[in-house]
Amino acid sequence: MAILAPSILSADFAKLGEEIRKTDEAGADYIHIDVMDGLFVPSISFGMPVIKSVRKTTQKPFDVHLMINEPIRYIKEFKESGADILNVHVEACSDVEATLKAIRAEGMKPAITLKPATPVSEVEPYLSMVDMVLVMSVEPGFGGQKLIPETVEKVRQLRKIIDDQYPGVLIEIDGGINFVNVSDIVEAGADVIVAGSAVFGSNTEEMTKKFKSII
Ligand code: DX5
Ligand code: ZN
Repeated sequence: MAILAPSILSADFAKLGEEIRKTDEAGADYIHIDVMDGLFVPSISFGMPVIKSVRKTTQKPFDVHLMINEPIRYIKEFKESGADILNVHVEACSDVEATLKAIRAEGMKPAITLKPATPVSEVEPYLSMVDMVLVMSVEPGFGGQKLIPETVEKVRQLRKIIDDQYPGVLIEIDGGINFVNVSDIVEAGADVIVAGSAVFGSNTEEMTKKFKSII
């Protein structure tokens, strides 16, 4: 069974705590939290004060996806806000190794993330330092986009590398995942499924349960 990480980017922010509680009670495993800086990606979402405030609504691990330049500047602040897993983009760090080590030193799980056009070879040197690798299946920046099919091949590639050399490292995939394509993605080797608009679109409880029953 795969892990479900609903992305709150698509939730109604006017009732964010309530929406998180609903997905938690319906079986969400992690809560996926997208932080955007308007530089690494064109959009701006939210930051530490929001994370800190929703930390009180659930015990589930916070899987924080940082779409920000040089995330090493804010690692302590994300720890203090309640992050458990910290995903950093390989494209956004001038010193990836130092960034991953700093995350581990703060007691969080480091994860490395790659954009659709970035080859797997760019993250391979860091697989021994992370707990998870996040394959972006859309251009990061916005919820509700269509999955880029070629990115599923990267999941297959990583599955093989990880099974051979780095057992225990999880493969997460994020962007455009829905009830139609999720089975193929799990079959390709993904361990953690992020879903935003497909979970928070209408009935959060029902959609969460439906995902859990498929994956
Ligand atoms: C995009 C974010 C995703 C997004 C997923 O930059 O990283 O987590 O919220 O949303 P959907 O599932 O709607 O593509
Ligand atoms: Zn994300």
